[in-house]
Amino acid sequence: MVSLNAVVQSNSDLKDYGPGLVGVFVGGTSGIGEATARSFVKYATSPRVYLVGRNDAQATRITDELEQLNPGSRVVFVRCDVSLLRLVDEACKRIQEREEKVNLLVLSSGIFTTKARTETTEGLDKKLCLDYYSRMRFISNLLPQLHAAASRPNAISEKKSKGLASVVSVLEAGGEGPLILEDLPLKDNYSPKNCAKHAITMTSLSLGELAKANPSVSFVHTYPGIVKTGAFRDFGAVTQALIRVLFVVAKPWTVPVEECGERHLYAAVGLPKIRTVDEGAGRPYLVNWDGEPRGNQNVLGLYREKKIGKVVWKHTVDVFRRTCS
Ligand SMILES: NC(=O)c1ccc[n+]([C@@H]2O[C@H](COP(=O)([O-])OP(=O)(O)OC[C@H]3O[C@@H](n4cnc5c(N)ncnc54)[C@H](OP(=O)(O)O)[C@@H]3O)[C@@H](O)[C@H]2O)c1
Repeated sequence: MVSLNAVVQSNSDLKDYGPGLVGVFVGGTSGIGEATARSFVKYATSPRVYLVGRNDAQATRITDELEQLNPGSRVVFVRCDVSLLRLVDEACKRIQEREEKVNLLVLSSGIFTTKARTETTEGLDKKLCLDYYSRMRFISNLLPQLHAAASRPNAISEKKSKGLASVVSVLEAGGEGPLILEDLPLKDNYSPKNCAKHAITMTSLSLGELAKANPSVSFVHTYPGIVKTGAFRDFGAVTQALIRVLFVVAKPWTVPVEECGERHLYAAVGLPKIRTVDEGAGRPYLVNWDGEPRGNQNVLGLYREKKIGKVVWKHTVDVFRRTCS
């Protein structure tokens, strides 16, 4: 376990990258995304922050709080329903109009639901799109800005000779399982369990493909642990009350949301720093809540041998081509 002290110490080095780091937080209007944005603003010098989500009231509250926390920061809310890929493209354009580089892309948009398959107007399941396709679309679209961040360090300290360019997807590293290869978008085989498995496994595999093709950018898939956030807001009053009780009982096993934010900033910035080139280059970082490695290597090893990552990424790009062109 990486101690919280070590995490905080590493995060406080963020200032060595100099002023003007840019962070994009898709899902930054609540929970883990919000907490990670807060940690970023706490340690960075004059950062620029983009919060992507739908909730204006939450965005206004967070913007005010972040700008108070660090008066040099500038926070912009990008209102977007990211369950539609064409809207993701519009959100990315708005960011690209303002920024030449993106240092941090944190992806945590999602909903907890046990509903049956809910098809969007683009023909994808909404939850699978939120957890997987739209996140991959953000990465694909913003790759030029991530590369620009990697190649143009504005470090003020010699310790930071490389640029900072990092992508973190918050889902469930380690929860990988067998895929239904003939039905990756789960048109005919949808269940909440299959949806979770596909989103998680496709994330680990696709981040692997992206890491191979873009070695100057870090790609991280995390399991955040059990964190009390707004994630259960769509459940009924009784279920929400039950969940509140469960959180009280399970408190010793939960991760406070502030700690989770610190640890996700560390996953993005600190972790790639301490990994060796052999471990890091061309491989995504699959990380547990406490900074330790976490990936189902039985499944991923087999899929690596069979080059299933390529199959999954090709499918993903085909979906993008069909939906967004
Ligand atoms: N919390 C946990 O214990 C836990 C455990 C394991 C995995 N995770 C995973 O971690 C991720 C983040 O969870 P969290 O706990 O931080 O949840 P959260 O507090 O509910 O935050 C979810 C974020 O997603 C955004 N979002 C949802 N639907 C959206 C849409 N259609 N368009 C745009 N934004 C949308 C929400 O923004 P708006 O409301 O503004 O739209 C919100 O900012 C999720 O993928 C979750 O599955 C969480």
